[in-house]
Amino acid sequence: MPVTVAKHAGFCYGVERAVNMLQQAVDSGCKVSTLGPIIHNPQIVEGFVRRGVKIIDDVQENPAGYQVVIRSHGVGLAVYDKLRQDHTPYLDVTCPYVVKIHKIVQTAAADGKTVLIAGDRNHPEIQGIIGHCGGEYFVFSGLEELRNLAEQDKLSVEKPYILLAQTTFNLLEWQKCVEFAKNVYTKLLLFDTICNATMLRQQEAEEMSRNADCMIVVGGKGSSNTAKLSQICGRHCRTVSVETAGELAGYDFMGARNVGVTAGASTPAFIIKEVQTTMSEILNQQNQQDEMSFEEMLEQSFKTIYSREKVNAIVTGVSANELSVDIGTKHAGYVPLNEFTDDPNAKLDELVKVGDELELMVLRVNDVEGTAMLSKKRLDAIAGFEKVMEAEQSGEILEGIVVDVVKGGVIALTNGVRVFIPASQATASRGQELETLLKQPVQFKILETNKQRRRAVASIRAVLKEQRKVLEDKFWEDVEIGRTYQGTVKSLTSYGAFVDLGGVDGMVHISELAWSRIKHPSEVVNVGDLVEVYVKDIDAENRKISLGYKKNEDNPWEVLKREHNIGDVCKVKVVSMTPFGAFAQVIPGVDGLIHISQISNERVGKPADVLSIGEEVDVKITDIDYEKRRVSLSIRALLASEEPQEDHSAPMVYEAGPDAHISGGEVVVQEEAAVEEPTVVETEVEEPVAEEAPVEEQPAPAEETPEGE
Ligand code: F3S
Repeated sequence: MPVTVAKHAGFCYGVERAVNMLQQAVDSGCKVSTLGPIIHNPQIVEGFVRRGVKIIDDVQENPAGYQVVIRSHGVGLAVYDKLRQDHTPYLDVTCPYVVKIHKIVQTAAADGKTVLIAGDRNHPEIQGIIGHCGGEYFVFSGLEELRNLAEQDKLSVEKPYILLAQTTFNLLEWQKCVEFAKNVYTKLLLFDTICNATMLRQQEAEEMSRNADCMIVVGGKGSSNTAKLSQICGRHCRTVSVETAGELAGYDFMGARNVGVTAGASTPAFIIKEVQTTMSEILNQQNQQDEMSFEEMLEQSFKTIYSREKVNAIVTGVSANELSVDIGTKHAGYVPLNEFTDDPNAKLDELVKVGDELELMVLRVNDVEGTAMLSKKRLDAIAGFEKVMEAEQSGEILEGIVVDVVKGGVIALTNGVRVFIPASQATASRGQELETLLKQPVQFKILETNKQRRRAVASIRAVLKEQRKVLEDKFWEDVEIGRTYQGTVKSLTSYGAFVDLGGVDGMVHISELAWSRIKHPSEVVNVGDLVEVYVKDIDAENRKISLGYKKNEDNPWEVLKREHNIGDVCKVKVVSMTPFGAFAQVIPGVDGLIHISQISNERVGKPADVLSIGEEVDVKITDIDYEKRRVSLSIRALLASEEPQEDHSAPMVYEAGPDAHISGGEVVVQEEAAVEEPTVVETEVEEPVAEEAPVEEQPAPAEETPEGE
C-alpha cells in the first residue's frame, strides 16, 4: 500500500544549517556545548552527545574550554553580553529567519513601538525574541488572547504597534490575528514572520489531511512546529503523532487505506523514511487481514445450514424456555427447552450461561425468516447411542431411569437414549409389578441394538443375576452350621418356607417353624416377612441349605422349666381323656397326666365321670421328668388333708404317644395296666420329625427357573 510523504517534511533550512554547523564544529575537534538541545529530535541530539557534545541550560554551566553553540531558536541579547563578558567562545547558528525577527523588535524599541508577538511565550524562540525587545511587548497565543488584551484596555488603540509571529506559528490563526489587529489598531505595522518552511509544511499538511484516511506526523514531542502540524491534520482526519517508526505498532489504523506522512522541521529524513516503510508494511498486513475477513464475511453471508447438520454455537441469550445462539451464519439460532433436555423440570439458566459454547444439531431452517431451530438433546442422543452400542460389545452395565411402562415392558433412559426392557427381563422374578420400577434408577445390560432404527433392548434381570451370583459365592464362602442370618420369606409350600438369605435361598421345614404342631407354614410366617433363621444343615455339593426358625428358648419344656416347679399349684385345662386318667394342658405345648387315682379322694370309675374336656381344674404338679418329657398332676393332692388316703404321692408313670407333650395329643395305654392298681403309664416324647418333604427335595432356587415370559 502506498504511503504518501509530504514534499515539505523534515529538516527545514534553519535546522539543517544548525545541525551541519554543529557537525562541522565537532568534526573539527572542537569541544562544544549547546544551549539546550540543538534541535527537538532526541535521536540527533543523542548522536551528538555520544560524540562529546554537552548540553547546558545556561552559559554559566559551560565547562571551561568548551565553545557554546547558540541553536537555531536564538537567544536574547543578555546571553550574548554574558558570553562576551566571560570571553566564552560561541558559535551562533540562530536561523536567519529568527535573526530577522530580532532586528525587527530591536528597531521597534528604538522607534517607541509596542511589539505584539503571536507565539508560545515559553518556547525558546519567543524567549530569545523577548530578549531583543528593548521596549514594551506582549505575547499572545492566538486570537482569543489578543482579543482579551484589547478588551482589558492593556493595549491602547492609539499607540503604534508592530505585530509579528513566531516562525512556526499556525498560519490560519495568524491570519485571524492579523484581521483582528488591523481592525482595532490604527497604527499597526505587520511583519509576517512565519517562515516559508513552516508555511509550506502547514499548507501541505492541510491539503493532505483533507484527502487522507489517516495522517502520520513525525517529530519530537517538544517540537512546536510538529505540534502545529498535528493540530492542522487533526482537524481533517485521524492523526497519529510519533517520534519514531517503532511507535506505529501501538496504533490501530482502523482500516485506513489512504495514509499521508508529514514531519516537523526537526525530523531527520531517515526517520521519515523508516516511518514510511513501516507504515506501508502495517497497511499491507492490515489489508490482507481485511481482505480475509471480507472473504469470510462474504462466505458467511452465503453460508447455509442443513437439517441434521452438527454446528458449533455460542450462547447469546438464555430465557426460561429457550436459548438464543450464534451459529456463525446469518441465521438467528434458538434451542427450545424441550430440545435442550428431556427433563421438564430443568431450568435453562442453571444449566447454561451466555458465552457458553455448545455443539448442536440443526433441526429446522427457515431461510425466509432467517431462523434455525437447533437441538442439543438429539445430538446427545446420537453420542449416547454410540455409548450404548459400545456397552453392547463390552458387556458394560449401564445406569438409567425408568421413564415409562409400556406394553410388554418398560422404557429406561440412559445417555439420552430410550432403551426397551422386556417384562421378562425387567425384574428378578416373575410377578413383580412393572409399575414399581417407574421413575426408579436401574442398572441393565444391553442385549441388542439396531443402529438404523436407533433401538436398543436391555435386561435388568441379567444384572440382578450377576449380582446374585456374586452374593451367592460370598455366602458359600462364609456359611457354617449354626450361623444366623436375616432373610426374607420368599415362598411357602405345604412342607415348609423358602427364605431368601441374599443370594441364596434356604428352606425352613414345617417342623422347624414352631414347637407345636402346625398344619401349614402360613400359621407362622408369610411371604415377605423378614425373619431370623439359623443354618441347621448344609449340602455344599448340591448347594442346599436347611434352616431352623423356632428358638430353643421358645421350647415349651424350657418355658415349663422357667415357670413351674414340682409342688406348684396351677390351673390346667382338660384336653383329653383315657381310661387311666385325663390329660390337661399345663402350658401351651406341655400336657400333664392326672391319673385316675389322682382325680378324687373317692374311687373313680373312669375320668369322664368326674372331669370333662375343656374343664379347668386346679392341680398340683407332683412330678416333672424332663428327660422323658412327662408331667404328673394331681387334684387329689389338694384334697389330701380332708381324709386319709392311700399314699399316691409316688410319681405316676405313664406312657404317651409321640404327641403326648403336645396339646391335643393322644395317650396310648398299655394293655396290661390295671385300672384299680396304681397306674403305670409310660410316655415317650419324640422330637417332631419331617413329615412331607426332606430337605434334599427343595425345589430349585427361583433364579434357576427358565427365563423369559
Ligand atoms: Fe528557521 Fe523556519 Fe526552520 S525559522 S529554523 S527555517 S522553521
